[in-house]
Amino acid sequence: MVAVRIGLVLAMALLVAMFSGPCRSELERLEHPIAADGSLSFLVVGDWGRRGSYNQSAVALQMGLMGEKLNVDFIISTGDNFYDDGLTSLQDPAFNESFSRIYTADSLQKQWYSVLGNHDYRGDVLAQLSPVLRKIDRRWLCLRSFVLNTEIVDFFFVDTTPFVDKYFTDPEDHAYDWRGVLPRKAYISNLLKDVDMALKESRAKWKIVVGHHTMQSAGHHGNTNEIVAQLLPILEENGVDLYINGHEHCLQQISTSHSPIQFLTSGGGSKAWRGDISWTKPELKFYYDGQGFMSMEMTEARVDIAFYDIFGNVLHTWGASKPSFSVTGENSRTVY
Ligand SMILES: *[C@@H]1O[C@H](CO)[C@@H](O)[C@H](O)[C@H]1NC(C)=O
Ligand SMILES: *[C@@H]1O[C@H](CO)[C@@H](O)[C@H](O)[C@H]1NC(C)=O
Repeated sequence: MVAVRIGLVLAMALLVAMFSGPCRSELERLEHPIAADGSLSFLVVGDWGRRGSYNQSAVALQMGLMGEKLNVDFIISTGDNFYDDGLTSLQDPAFNESFSRIYTADSLQKQWYSVLGNHDYRGDVLAQLSPVLRKIDRRWLCLRSFVLNTEIVDFFFVDTTPFVDKYFTDPEDHAYDWRGVLPRKAYISNLLKDVDMALKESRAKWKIVVGHHTMQSAGHHGNTNEIVAQLLPILEENGVDLYINGHEHCLQQISTSHSPIQFLTSGGGSKAWRGDISWTKPELKFYYDGQGFMSMEMTEARVDIAFYDIFGNVLHTWGASKPSFSVTGENSRTVY
């Protein structure tokens, strides 16, 4: 009798295991230790690699000063790391000329966590993802999609370029290096499944998702419909707090009434001033058309962000506390 019962339990466990699929997300996981006082601070920059031109060096200089002031733990890059067409190979001097020789301040000699942007996909993607680059400059780390665990916040970096239809269908568009992405449908469905699972596994107080493309944007490109349709519902279902992107060459914050997520754009690393902002809705809390970057300071109880221009002026701040997200730090200055 007992043996039969044990047999039944085992059979049921086996059935559950068979039908629930793999139990863990297959995304690569990295860990970053945080300071003993339980705080974390970092900078976010996007759309930058232009050998110092278009104010890239001016942004880098201010990042160095702010990085020192906040004693940042790391730097996040939201993609479009090398213009116009990614890296040509592991030997491409652009890696040195647009990265190593630009972000030279002591405070920026920290780990960089980067995703790929659409411009990076126009070059040799495997070179940009290669661990060999980490030997040339140990700060560099770019992966397609991965999880970064810290004690107070988990970051989910998502490769958004493969979601965008026009890169695949528009014959006028550039050539992209889709090695590792095809077949596209399977790549996207596995990625969505992995992000969903990784979010469900997360026990961190804060969840932040980083991708290159916009979900909500008042700028030139607007919203990226493909990720709004496919990725956003997964983030909302899993209690993500913030979505951070580049792609638009601007700085912006959007809060909508239909999503609890704050949408933050930091894509002002070099060329900007497009001059074609497309919205002035109340959801748009802040928009700056020029160059700059963002800082974030976090504890288990609080997040505070700030956006800076190339002179180091604070353009906008915002903050929130857990669990209620009650906004306390209001806009210091809103630039439209
Ligand atoms: C550099 O930044 C300054 C100040 O924001 C701006 O006036 C200028 O147009 C920028 N240069 C370029 C090439 O974007
Ligand atoms: C990067 O540039 C600097 C300055 O020109 C040079 O000394 C260094 O050798 C270069 N490094 C690489 C890996 O090309």
